[in-house]
Amino acid sequence: MSVKEVQWVEEAWQQTVDKVSRTSQRIGAQFPHASVKGSYVLEPSYWWTAGFWPGLLWLLYRETKNEQFKSIAEQCEIMLDEVITNYYKLDHDIGFMWTLTSVARYKLLQAENAKRRGLLAANLLAARFNVKGSFIRAWNPWSEGEDNSGIAIIDCLMNLPLLYWASEQTGDPRYKHLAMEHADTVLNHFIRADGSVYHIVRFDAHTGERIEALGGQGFAPESAWSRGAAWAIYGMALSYQYTRDERYLQAAKRVAHFFIAQLSEDHVPLWDFRLPSDITPYRDTSAGACAACGLLLIADQVDSVEAASYRNAGEAILRSLYENYGAWNDQEEEGLILHGTSHYPEGKNVDVPLIYGDYFFVEGLSRLKGQTELFW
Ligand code: GLY
Repeated sequence: MSVKEVQWVEEAWQQTVDKVSRTSQRIGAQFPHASVKGSYVLEPSYWWTAGFWPGLLWLLYRETKNEQFKSIAEQCEIMLDEVITNYYKLDHDIGFMWTLTSVARYKLLQAENAKRRGLLAANLLAARFNVKGSFIRAWNPWSEGEDNSGIAIIDCLMNLPLLYWASEQTGDPRYKHLAMEHADTVLNHFIRADGSVYHIVRFDAHTGERIEALGGQGFAPESAWSRGAAWAIYGMALSYQYTRDERYLQAAKRVAHFFIAQLSEDHVPLWDFRLPSDITPYRDTSAGACAACGLLLIADQVDSVEAASYRNAGEAILRSLYENYGAWNDQEEEGLILHGTSHYPEGKNVDVPLIYGDYFFVEGLSRLKGQTELFW
């Protein structure tokens, strides 16, 4: 990057550190999800987003050595202990939750108890594998009598690094085998020829046969939910990083090309790329931030001629998030990045800052500052 480009990254980083120093005093060791009217709404410790706030604090701690960030992140990890035995509330997002808490702390501080927690979480994730259908089951029933046993979702690609990490730590390839089986199912059933993706696919949990695709958090089954595409870009790039299986890199690139081609002038995606004209085209900045991290990882894994286009695309998204979507001048707003969309079909947290958008924005900045080690 040129001196001028480095300058915006340093400015953005400093603004981030300043804001989080303030907001962390109010939020402390709790689990924010979406910022509504300026304040992050807190969720229970079992909610899928519980890892992002401590993960964001670890990203900042790594550079600043701010003891307050470390202390809060450590407390959050301890609070997750009550979740790990809460069978009914655990789902496949064990990966998001423990990768950004225990695995992150283990990578940063080599703490033995963090490693043990991470491995326990990996075992629970592995236990969700459906052998007949070769997929990791997403959710337990949300309500009495509901059958989610055949549901798999695109987001799970981001849970696979916990399994790859467990194989590396233990020398036992089973975790990696399961992760690759699931990733192959995504190649076969989730990623369309044009590079867009399905959010949810339902399988017959007994025979493993594919039954149908569902719209989930996208507008419709055949639409193109942008955060789903972002999960696929980054998740497939991570699967390639751990396995060196070329098919995963090709898949990451295919979805990346689709994603980049859909971006409007400001480089930030709509929440769904295939919306009818009467539906409000809200942005989803969180999809942009996550995709940018995936694009930067693809850039690291291809030759220098190819790398430039992925890196430039990732940087352009992050820079636009900083310059056009940041809440830097609003002291009353706890979120870093405005205009995320969590779940439009359910009318939940639309056009607000989201903790995963903030997390991936900060992860992206740390990459642009030269950090190469990922928590994933
Ligand atoms: N289902 C997780 C997400 O909102 O992306």
